[in-house]
Amino acid sequence: EEGLHPANYPFGHKGLLSTFDHASIRRGYQVYREVCAACHSLDRIAWRNLVGVSHTVDEVKAMAEEVEYEDGPNDQGEMFQRPGKLADYMPPPYPNEEAARAANNKALPPDLSLIVKARHGGADYIFSLLTGYVDPPAGVKLLDGLNYNPYFPGGAIAMARVLYDGVVEYPDGTPATTSQMAKDVVTFLAWAAEPEHDERKKYGLKAVILFSALTALSLYVKRFKWSPIK
Ligand code: HEM
Repeated sequence: EEGLHPANYPFGHKGLLSTFDHASIRRGYQVYREVCAACHSLDRIAWRNLVGVSHTVDEVKAMAEEVEYEDGPNDQGEMFQRPGKLADYMPPPYPNEEAARAANNKALPPDLSLIVKARHGGADYIFSLLTGYVDPPAGVKLLDGLNYNPYFPGGAIAMARVLYDGVVEYPDGTPATTSQMAKDVVTFLAWAAEPEHDERKKYGLKAVILFSALTALSLYVKRFKWSPIK
């Protein structure tokens, strides 16, 4: 059974030429870190990916250093712990799938790196999912550990509602309403799924300008060359 069809939301990056709202990516990272990262990994994003996108290099280094990574083996053949560095990937919440399922009533929280691309409806779907928890309709009984969400195919989802007004506090003063946090984390996840998005659109614009100029030029030359022929 399909879920409810999400509305088409006016995300800042949707336009043909529009780039990501980087302040929103920054807030969205905060939501991911403080809320979603408790259960969801983000395997394909390294700390260095945030540099110049949402944070400065010094900020990212400091954030990475707060996480302990296992490294090694060293000269003695031992593994050891060291603080994170720019090249490290986002730390996963669980060591393996078994642990993830054990902590989530047997359900598996999917890796969020590509989720915006993987799910039908993309950003609109995930925004709708995060803000769409409601009481089940009369007569609908849910199994233990499941929550009603009409946007989720089937309607019964193992993830409970996680966003409530004020669960994070934004340093930039943006009011952390449920929908604001959902918008920001979805913007962050849309960036994570397509980090080359802004570049792609900039090159696209350049290509359109360049090929238009070449077309105009070749039309002009063609008319010029053919002008003696009546
Ligand atoms: C599933 C996003 C926080 C546990 C999902 C899905 C998304 C998502 C997009 C996939 C839904 C689908 O399959 O279509 C997020 C975001 C979060 C967040 C953006 C933070 C704002 C959490 C937290 C937990 C959690 C904190 C654990 C306490 C799960 C579980 C599933 C899931 C268990 C699998 C649900 C199922 O298959 O029934 N989440 N999540 N999530 N999430 Fe989260």
